[in-house]
Amino acid sequence: MGELVRFSVAVPEDLLAQFDNLVARRGIAKNRSEVLRDLIRDALVSEEWDDPMQEIVGTLTLVFDHHASDLQSKLDQLQHRHHEQIISAMHVHLDAHNCLEVIVLRGRSDEIRLLAESILGVKGVKHGQLSTTTTGRYL
Ligand code: NI
Repeated sequence: MGELVRFSVAVPEDLLAQFDNLVARRGIAKNRSEVLRDLIRDALVSEEWDDPMQEIVGTLTLVFDHHASDLQSKLDQLQHRHHEQIISAMHVHLDAHNCLEVIVLRGRSDEIRLLAESILGVKGVKHGQLSTTTTGRYL
């Protein structure tokens, strides 16, 4: 392990409370810093799984508040711009505010991951998860 660096992070209070519950569930040997390091490593490992030139198919699941500024139109814009990689999308109105979208993607691994990151990066997206599998083809 390299030298430890401190940084500060701003998170909503309720999210921090949930994170502290997770830290507690992982036992007395783990503190916030250790659990955060584990989560960062998990995220990096799952990203490095496949070859960037390999074709993958996957689903990107998002939860967002459709009232959040121009979120919906930004999401639509991104999806239109990448229509060749987006096979299908399903939109579910969860309640008065929240929407769930499941987007099916297909394309070169590096491009699909970048696209998923830019969708997840749209301000107002509360939660998201990309789940992929390889087709065995190279593009
Ligand atoms: Ni909706």
